[in-house]
Amino acid sequence: MVGQTIVDSETARLRMEELQRLVEHHRFLYYVLDKHEISDAEFDALFNELVALEEKFPDLKSANSPTQKVGAPPSTDFKSVKHRLPMLSLSNAMSAEELDKWEERIVRGLSLGDPRSADLAYACELKIDGLSIVLTYKKGEFVQGATRGDGTVGEDVTNNLKTIKILPPRLTPLAVQEDGTVLSPEEAEKAREAGGKVSERLPEYVEVRGEVYLPISSFKALNEALVDANEASFANPRNAASGSLRQKDPRITRKRNLALWAYFIYVEDDVIKQPSTHSAGLAMLKSLGLPVEPNFEVVHGAGAVKQFCDKWATSRHDLDYQTDGVVIKLDERRLWTELGATSHSPRWAVAFKYPPEEAETVLEDILFEVGRTGAVTPVACLRPVKLAGTTVKRASLHNADQIARLDVRVGDTVVVRKAGEIIPEILSVNLNLRPPSSTSFKYPSQCPVCHTPLVFSQDEVAVRCPNTYNCISQCERRLKHWVSGDAMDIEGIGEVLIAELVKADLVRRPSDFYKLTLDKMLSLPRMGTKSAEKALRNIELSKGRPLSRLINALGIRHVGTTVAELLASHYSSIDDLRAAKQADLAGIEGVGPVMAETIVEFFQDPEVVRLIDELKEAGLKMKEEDQERLPTAPQTLAGKTFVITGTLSSMERSDAEKQIKARGGKATSSVSKNTNYLVVGASPGSKLAKAQELGVTILDENQFVALLADESL
Ligand code: IVH
Repeated sequence: MVGQTIVDSETARLRMEELQRLVEHHRFLYYVLDKHEISDAEFDALFNELVALEEKFPDLKSANSPTQKVGAPPSTDFKSVKHRLPMLSLSNAMSAEELDKWEERIVRGLSLGDPRSADLAYACELKIDGLSIVLTYKKGEFVQGATRGDGTVGEDVTNNLKTIKILPPRLTPLAVQEDGTVLSPEEAEKAREAGGKVSERLPEYVEVRGEVYLPISSFKALNEALVDANEASFANPRNAASGSLRQKDPRITRKRNLALWAYFIYVEDDVIKQPSTHSAGLAMLKSLGLPVEPNFEVVHGAGAVKQFCDKWATSRHDLDYQTDGVVIKLDERRLWTELGATSHSPRWAVAFKYPPEEAETVLEDILFEVGRTGAVTPVACLRPVKLAGTTVKRASLHNADQIARLDVRVGDTVVVRKAGEIIPEILSVNLNLRPPSSTSFKYPSQCPVCHTPLVFSQDEVAVRCPNTYNCISQCERRLKHWVSGDAMDIEGIGEVLIAELVKADLVRRPSDFYKLTLDKMLSLPRMGTKSAEKALRNIELSKGRPLSRLINALGIRHVGTTVAELLASHYSSIDDLRAAKQADLAGIEGVGPVMAETIVEFFQDPEVVRLIDELKEAGLKMKEEDQERLPTAPQTLAGKTFVITGTLSSMERSDAEKQIKARGGKATSSVSKNTNYLVVGASPGSKLAKAQELGVTILDENQFVALLADESL
């Protein structure tokens, strides 16, 4: 139909609907998933065809057409979803005795007689502490995903779930025998070898239940970034997972690195049978390409169930996801129907919960840290104590209110608990062990670093050091933020070097980095020529970083990477952003009035004006020259991710990155398993070793130039 002239309105309506779907689909891929299925020229052809049809048939134009939101990334609209089958909860067993009682009830319910002779098969799975979701696949395609909500009605979070890398957008066909029995890939191979008839089939309808979680490593990285941006951090990975999955903008969800374990399947198909056991269901989930937590076991009898629970009581702390218990399910699904469910939970499953981990130790001191924005936060120094698999030496005391509420004193024996088992916090004081000489803790009235009187404001719980530009701690933190990976990404300048540069009075503000010379660098203790040259070269390279990174690097309160990108996409230069009116800023989705006010105030600060002038003078890029998404080069590198290390002789690194982008590729600054190529110039950095370790393809400059020139890819 493409290219033909459409004259009748019914054909036009159908084509317009199809085009709307296609444009939305490719926009989602492009803006949210950073993926290309078609070239930009093909995308534009679809878009233009839709525009032309809307002009020709204005009555058929939909108010929701993607032509009405040019360039806008899709946003999530949480519609309500009524679950086909209610999403029940689980009853809990808090001890071994309660587990025994649960088994007795089962045996009684099934009229099996003596529990010991029953020796029923139980599937034991780790209880993942995330949030439960339901995924629907029709004919193998992922069509909808929803949260549990109240168990009957949840929220449609399909677009956000699509950003989870491990969630398959399309299922793998199952190997099915003529009688509808599903075989594992290994069984299928054997059956085929033995001459059996095995066909491939995707079930008509599949409903999958599972848990979305945030890996502990990602949770820690996210919280560090939030603290850096002076935004509220999450108390535990579960809250972080829930907050991330329910973001309005799926691009934010994508950055959060959510993951998923599937633990239940329901199938409707003419040929494929419902699995007869829970373990067969888990195997089916795996064969379909869904991730299943690998540590589950099928065991016989309550004794073996308890052994499984004991075994994981400590080893669970070695996993990169949080678990708070074990879910025990009768393996035979036939028995599920027999036992049924209460309105709250099924009778055939139970959650064995591990007790929260607490320990007593002595509070040896209370220290204060001064952050990048001057917030002064108390940190408890503890006599080291083992807790939930790690040794805890420090705990958060949050703020002055918390210290006062607990009346916690140095020398006290305190109860420490891992909130969500990640961030230790002080729960209470054991008053029986309080030393008689102890006195109430006095919150300092001066900054512990620069001794300026602190500001205790009515409006916020944080206590601040107002000496913004001369408090060494604040300066160092700002510089550290400036050089960090998401900001100006200056390799070779870390915390220690920053402290030395500040101590030697060579750098105080970010613009001072660009005034450094080799002589000045070499005046630092233990500084070698090679390292100094490398640092200077990387400082020089940072001048060309995109506007969004510069905005992030400035460290405006509440503005992290996402908002910085949003601002850079609305304002094409620092000067435009600086001149922006509060109302305009507040009108940007994702900014809001509080942030808008902070941004306006930030740019009015004379120190900021001076900093920006100096950065301009130093030659930093202050504009986004090229906001075009339409490259002219053939898309030979579509879907490929590049990292460049070292100095290229034939072009600047920023030019190389432009060339990659123009061919549909992506240029990032750190090597990961998603990197396809590492381009190595002269004096490469540590990225080379990392790439070698991960098996990333390594290109020298000549190979890279040849790859750029090759149009036959
Ligand atoms: S089965 C009808 N299996 O625990 C029972 N739940 O406390 C369906 N959970 O809402 C749940 N890991 O969010 C099941 N392996 C697992 C689980 C699991 C975590 C969560 C789930 C559920 C909650 C109940």
